[in-house]
Amino acid sequence: MPLSAQDQLKSDVANAAIDHIQARLDHDSIVGVGTGSTVNFFIDALAKKKGHFKAAVSSSEGSSERLREHGIPVLNLNEVGELEFYIDGADETNHHLQLIKGGGAALTREKIIAAVAREFICIADESKKVDILGDFPLPVEVIPMARSYVARKLAGMGGSPVYREGVVTDNGNHILDVYNFMISNPIETEHQINNITGVVTNGLFAIRPANVLLLGTSNGVNIQTA
Ligand code: 5RP
Repeated sequence: MPLSAQDQLKSDVANAAIDHIQARLDHDSIVGVGTGSTVNFFIDALAKKKGHFKAAVSSSEGSSERLREHGIPVLNLNEVGELEFYIDGADETNHHLQLIKGGGAALTREKIIAAVAREFICIADESKKVDILGDFPLPVEVIPMARSYVARKLAGMGGSPVYREGVVTDNGNHILDVYNFMISNPIETEHQINNITGVVTNGLFAIRPANVLLLGTSNGVNIQTA
């Protein structure tokens, strides 16, 4: 079946990410792999490079399973010292390559791997590019017993938090999606939310933005560096 136009762009950026990293892959390379539908295209493309790198680390059980199905070894991050690159999607990106992530509830592990990686390569289709972050509801991972308390604090900051019912993260926690936040200072907002007791982390990737954005457009893949 032919891909939808949006899936074609996701596939294009996934292949562009392979082109971007392949000259640097060697038999010791560990590839950091994120989560989501765009990343699934990347995992499928990475499988064709099997044997040119050692293993992957991944930000979710779902991605780990897909990697293993392709026969790609998946390591625990604690077994890995250096990580050359991390490839992941986004729900929104601004011009500074600051992101909102966590639509797939994998934000905490995504943020950890992004922190370790020397280069964070974001792959996204053009629908994800915005001037101001916040149209996409901001995911916040919370310790379950703190959910109502954190929701009240987020409402006090002007947001409208909604409990993502039925979702338990890979870390056993809950997600609040915060609507009606127009985030004019992403670094400050990221700090403020992380300082609420009971928050594990929030989906703003502003303190550590992407280094490279591969953006799929109808005119081809644009590359932007921070
Ligand atoms: C998962 C994420 C994803 O990267 C984000 O939701 C984008 O997903 P998709 O590629 O399916 O649009 O942050 O937690």
